[in-house]
Amino acid sequence: TLDNQEIRQEIKDLLVEKNAVLVAHYYTDDAIQELAEETGGVIADSLEMARFGANHPAQTLVVAGVKFMGETAKILSPEKTVLMPTLEATCSLDIGCPADEFSAFCDQYPDRKVVVYANTSAAVKARADWVVTSSIALDVVEYLHDQGEKIIWAPDQHLGGYVQKQTGADMVLWDGACIVHEEFKAKGVLDLKTVYPDAAILVHPESPESVVEIADVVGSTSQLLNASKSMSNSTFIVATDRGIFYKMRQASPEKRFVEAPTAGSGATCRSCAHCPWMALNSLEMLRDALKNNDGEVFVDEQTRHKALIPLQRMLDFNV
Ligand code: 13P
Ligand code: SF4
Repeated sequence: TLDNQEIRQEIKDLLVEKNAVLVAHYYTDDAIQELAEETGGVIADSLEMARFGANHPAQTLVVAGVKFMGETAKILSPEKTVLMPTLEATCSLDIGCPADEFSAFCDQYPDRKVVVYANTSAAVKARADWVVTSSIALDVVEYLHDQGEKIIWAPDQHLGGYVQKQTGADMVLWDGACIVHEEFKAKGVLDLKTVYPDAAILVHPESPESVVEIADVVGSTSQLLNASKSMSNSTFIVATDRGIFYKMRQASPEKRFVEAPTAGSGATCRSCAHCPWMALNSLEMLRDALKNNDGEVFVDEQTRHKALIPLQRMLDFNV
């Protein structure tokens, strides 16, 4: 629409004026991903977002995603202004892992290394030895297991269970889940596979074990996108947030991408293959963030210092 054009131009002008760069996650709306592409920003998975933000020379990072991504950017780049279209965009994994309860949990296992998923608050990261994202979790835990370490894992039980199974590491798991991926159903995926026998099944490891087990590829958003490019199948059944389809279809317009079914597919369902918090990121709020410094991210200095250690360890880890 014309309005849309105007607001997009406004955002483009503001990005230049404020020496700002847009760092967007694959799950944000197409319009935001498009803007990131057109303005020299990035569309990425959570690990690449962290790296891109830390390495980019812009004075202001505009992080379109959920709160932990903005906090991670601020922890890594305290000298930069970090803005988010909305600070209300959280994550069920973050909500389900309050720092005080988590700290008490860790106190019960003093002999274990604490590995937390990036989808956590700065305060939870501050209690950790390692931060990992889905793209690097297996490698880090394999490394720790080889070193003879036992592990506390939080908060995603599905990713944790998958990593445990793959690496054989001794892991105590926190009981958290992603409300989007948790809904995917193996039966629905297998039913779809009978409709598209040639389809490859791509699954994000936040999905339940029964869905991960029938996957052809398990990986982070970027890893699934890469698989969709390199595999020769004509159809892909994709068990992750449908925001990823923007880049998948752009990269392979000749291929068919089908959403993996969820329990509530077709009915009214709050989180059917689309994260309600990612969806809060709108063009209007993005514009207002840039215009008024709405949604500026702050992390208190003491927490930041502690959280930086396990985060930096992740960035320095060479796969
Ligand atoms: P990725 O690290 O694969 O981008 O997934 C993180 C996530 O769930 C963002 O919501
Ligand atoms: Fe959190 Fe799931 Fe949303 Fe990602 S998709 S931000 S893991 S609730």
